[in-house]
Amino acid sequence: MGAVADYNARYGPWAMVIGGSVGLGEALARELARRGMNVVITARGQDKLDLAAKRIRADFGVEAKTIAADLSDPAILDLLLAGLAGTEVDFLIYNAALEHGGEFIVQDMDRHLANIHVNCTVPTVLVHHFARRMAARGRGGIVISSSLAAAQGLYAWSSYSASKAYENLLAQTLWYELRPKGVDVTSFMIGSTYTPNFQHNQKVRQTPFAESRTPADLPEGTQVPQDPQDAAQGLFAQLDKEWLPMVYANPRDEENARRLAALTLAERVTLTSDAVRRSFEAAPGAKDGKAQLM
Ligand SMILES: NC(=O)c1ccc[n+]([C@@H]2O[C@H](COP(=O)([O-])OP(=O)(O)OC[C@H]3O[C@@H](n4cnc5c(N)ncnc54)[C@H](OP(=O)(O)O)[C@@H]3O)[C@@H](O)[C@H]2O)c1
Repeated sequence: MGAVADYNARYGPWAMVIGGSVGLGEALARELARRGMNVVITARGQDKLDLAAKRIRADFGVEAKTIAADLSDPAILDLLLAGLAGTEVDFLIYNAALEHGGEFIVQDMDRHLANIHVNCTVPTVLVHHFARRMAARGRGGIVISSSLAAAQGLYAWSSYSASKAYENLLAQTLWYELRPKGVDVTSFMIGSTYTPNFQHNQKVRQTPFAESRTPADLPEGTQVPQDPQDAAQGLFAQLDKEWLPMVYANPRDEENARRLAALTLAERVTLTSDAVRRSFEAAPGAKDGKAQLM
């Protein structure tokens, strides 16, 4: 990697990554540490947080703190503030998400409401709190992880894709509103990424990437999921230069999105949903509907 920007000088000393213990979230926290920021990483599992924090301290010589908290907890903001113990957050990444999937009416309502809570309500609450303080200080950075699933309705991911569209538009609006106040914001558009969560879902459905990111004898035309580190580096390479309302994790995702955008909406929803439906139907247990539960 070549030279990177100094985010400690640009934004301040502390970043917080919500969902920063493994996979993409850990890779994002490491990019902030590489740019000179101390990091607070949050997740539910303390062991993985501890491991990621230890690696960050060893590799980048910055401070790394952890807060174990569940985003479904109604007191999540207070829990995070207690864990921060007065540390101001100069850069916030909302990366964690709930991804309950399955056909809309087959799923129980609590699963849809859980998606909406963790992917819409909680990022709104956290971003509102921390963005106000950043604006008062006249500097800050905020990244909200969205998804290519946000670009159109998607079979089996109704409330998930809708919640990711919410995050995408929230970030884009804040890019406009907060820029004059010195706070940079972007929506991070992510396509399939080989995280532990992604791999777990592949295992549940026994789909091609269950064991390896680059399996042999992949069906023709199947795109290999990106490495989380490449996705995080792709984002920050762009942010080092310029903040846009939305940044794709890599050029391939952007090209795919551009190609899809050229279709009619009906074609787009059908094409992407057919692909997901085929992958659900190919999964063992699909006939009794179990494969739809993720
Ligand atoms: N992976 C993909 O293919 C893909 C594709 C498109 C978009 N995305 C988006 O990319 C982001 C990261 O996705 P990912 O699933 O691949 O995960 P990841 O970044 O590899 O890991 C998710 C992080 O969030 C934490 N987390 C999950 N649920 C939580 C909860 N209820 N409360 C607190 N922390 C929680 C996890 O730790 P604990 O489990 O210990 O809590 C972990 O640290 C998400 O916004 C997702 O929508 C991913």
